[in-house]
Amino acid sequence: MSNTTTAMRNELPAWTALAGHAGEMRGVHLRDLFRDDPGRAERMTLDAAGWRLDYAKNRVTDTTLHMLLDLAEACGLRTAIDAMFTGARINRTENRAVLHTALRNRSGRPVMVDGRDVMPDVLAVLHRMADFARRVRSGEWTGHTGKRIRAVINIGIGGSDLGPAMAAEALKPFSDRALSVRFVSNVDATHFAEQTRGLDPAETLFIVASKTFTTQETMTNAATARAWVLNALGDDAAVAKHFVAVSTNTEGVEAFGIDPANMFAFWEWVGGRYSLCSAIGLPLMVAIGPEHFTEMLEGFHAMDRHFAETPFARNMPVLMGLLGVWYQNILGAETHAVLPYDQSLHRFAAHLQQLDMESNGKCIDTRGRRVGYHTGAVVWGEPGTNGQHAFYQLIHQGTRLIPCDFIGFARSHNPLGDHHAKLTANLLAQTEALAFGKTAEEVRAEGTDAALVPHKIFEGNRPTNTLAAEMLTPRTLGALTALYEHKVFVQGVIWDIHSFDQWGVQLGKVLAARILDALQAEAEPALGHDGSTNAWIRYFRQNGN
Ligand code: F6P
Repeated sequence: MSNTTTAMRNELPAWTALAGHAGEMRGVHLRDLFRDDPGRAERMTLDAAGWRLDYAKNRVTDTTLHMLLDLAEACGLRTAIDAMFTGARINRTENRAVLHTALRNRSGRPVMVDGRDVMPDVLAVLHRMADFARRVRSGEWTGHTGKRIRAVINIGIGGSDLGPAMAAEALKPFSDRALSVRFVSNVDATHFAEQTRGLDPAETLFIVASKTFTTQETMTNAATARAWVLNALGDDAAVAKHFVAVSTNTEGVEAFGIDPANMFAFWEWVGGRYSLCSAIGLPLMVAIGPEHFTEMLEGFHAMDRHFAETPFARNMPVLMGLLGVWYQNILGAETHAVLPYDQSLHRFAAHLQQLDMESNGKCIDTRGRRVGYHTGAVVWGEPGTNGQHAFYQLIHQGTRLIPCDFIGFARSHNPLGDHHAKLTANLLAQTEALAFGKTAEEVRAEGTDAALVPHKIFEGNRPTNTLAAEMLTPRTLGALTALYEHKVFVQGVIWDIHSFDQWGVQLGKVLAARILDALQAEAEPALGHDGSTNAWIRYFRQNGN
């Protein structure tokens, strides 16, 4: 991210002005804001890339928004956006460009990295992916014994799993139901065992997806998969028909025994959690077909254009990012809930958790200083209406401020009876109840026993965004995912942190390797950990299998 000043972000006048403004907003209720401003809902609604965002039910006035936009300017957001789209090495701690937007660039224009246009490579890989997907879907690609492939299993973790797994669920209505596309990520063998249960190895194809091709979980699952196939088919040559790889590491792929001819490449400038549009999307393309995958890329691209070209005051990712800063940094919220009213999006929050928390879970600014403010929010969520009967109580009447995004669709893929009207009614009712609540007078007017009145009051003033599109399609899913990617980018710029590295996951990996040695040692190992960890190593050695 660019850094336009030596002041820490919370020392900028634009930031301190917001902190002062928060005092003026204390005691201002969404009821007042809507009562005093009939044009509010219309003014605070905007459309982009097939999505409508209504942000009127936020605890903001026009003044608040102007001040947040001033903060964006003061933090150099425009320069930062341009730097990302033009291939500058904005991932400075890894000295890499950040160009997931090139993966879905449908403009026909070149995208340069170090003086070289990356688009021919991007399009060539998409072409190879489409050819492979068609061959698997049509039955032309058979297993080693000549049987048709009935199951495709992606082995990958983190960014090499969550995006395609989320999208494969979301886009089930567009998928070939005769082909089962599954995902194995956890190093817990139960995941592999359950996902392969009942499958015939002769009809199963594995996609081993790993940017580095060194990730412990993925390499372990891939080795287990190879043994599973070879045990059944009894011929090493079977690997060629049952394994393909997606990676940036050709040598690693070869060392595993997969022919590089069966490898789909991507590049160091694609971050794992931003890689759905790269070859990491291969299992999704196999599931939904190349045409639907292309529609998804177009949805991503439409939101990319909106983000790159729209003035900040009408820019959806910019506004959502700034509203998040308002709540997390100025009003003291700590989490952010994402609540899709669509069962197919049941893995969307999981994908966003990596996208947002791995990107913005940082405490050091771009000048190497410990920040004096909060950065990434804890992101969480579940589909409505299930969440309503689980955790919404706390959102309505708990002590914490929890900003929420409600996501819905005008039309259902399954228009059964009045299910969809009920689903939508619940979405709208929740945002209305959260914003406007129920006063003591209203509770009393219902004849409520005086002792119960305090318990039945809903304070309201709980902020929400409402996002809706006509239908969940490859295009709208692409645009929605890009919207959150760019929201995360905006916040990273405001917080002046490096959003595109993830050093925080390294220490655990190193320690796990040491502990694994101790767990597997034949003789009683000399343990050099702390007392607690040493005791647990002894416990698992004594009681484990
Ligand atoms: O969790 C750390 C991480 O490096 C993620 O950023 C990445 O998506 C994941 O591991 C998987 O990495 P790889 O694709 O290299 O196997």
